[in-house]
Amino acid sequence: MKLRKVMIIGVGNVGSTTAYTFVNRGICEEIALVDLNKELAYGHAQDLLDAAAYRQNMVKVSLRESTDCADIDIVIITVTSGLAQKSRKEELDGTSKIIESIVPNMMKNGFNGIFLVATNPCDAITYQVWKLSGLPRHRVIGTGVWLDTVRLRRLLGEKMDIGPQSIDAFIVGEHGDSQFPVWSHSSIYGINLNKLEKNKVDFAQIGTQARKMGFEIMERKHCTEYGIASTITEICQHIFTNSHRALALSCILDGEYGYKNVAIGVPAILDQHGIKKIIELDFIEKEKQLFANSVEIVKGYIEHINL
Ligand code: 2OP
Repeated sequence: MKLRKVMIIGVGNVGSTTAYTFVNRGICEEIALVDLNKELAYGHAQDLLDAAAYRQNMVKVSLRESTDCADIDIVIITVTSGLAQKSRKEELDGTSKIIESIVPNMMKNGFNGIFLVATNPCDAITYQVWKLSGLPRHRVIGTGVWLDTVRLRRLLGEKMDIGPQSIDAFIVGEHGDSQFPVWSHSSIYGINLNKLEKNKVDFAQIGTQARKMGFEIMERKHCTEYGIASTITEICQHIFTNSHRALALSCILDGEYGYKNVAIGVPAILDQHGIKKIIELDFIEKEKQLFANSVEIVKGYIEHINL
């Protein structure tokens, strides 16, 4: 049987919590940690192996260089420049330079798997990784609005006293301020949310709360980690189990929704090879405009890093 191997590039809060979530869910046999700070990576590896010793399955936690990647199935990018940022564009400048120094060298060293990007600004970095890797577009995925979608579902669930997994509502667009919930296609057991809870739930307010949740958490604990680590783990699990589940992810568009040369959050089906199919929703007019605005914003980031 083939052993499932993931590599996590960047073992800050997001990378290390992701590794811990992988260990506890038992979704792979090897977790390779990559970080410039070797001491930190060593510390995390030993701590994770202590946790792994409680499991029934064997999990190897290794320390590698990013170029030692030819046998890796999924590379997860969580690395950031680590500098205090004043704006998203500054964040983009620092992070895109790191991506430039990593991805082409991985490709020269035979990487032949799937990239999963969690680093912000997620959509622009996903696009950059795709460009630099030369991989087919279905093998470069961004976590994008899946975390925002899960936030929306849990906030709706809290309000309506329904388990988030039973709510078929989702967010599309940029993993950032221009994202929006697609209320026209949001339902529970096929009943549109608007019909189900009309006048009882302030949907607009919940959408805003979901959009701002990352910042709310950041303001208080200076990072987000558990939510995004669970998001990354869930996506990897769907790939490893060939689940064919539909998630809202940052995908490279090639004509879908009328756009090209951009990565942005849309619903898509995941299988063992990555994005199997992008689902094209029939947006109402207002949603079309919101989506166009979101594409414009991500394209601005992409142009900024000269891609
Ligand atoms: C999050 O939404 C900030 O992207 C990070 O949790």
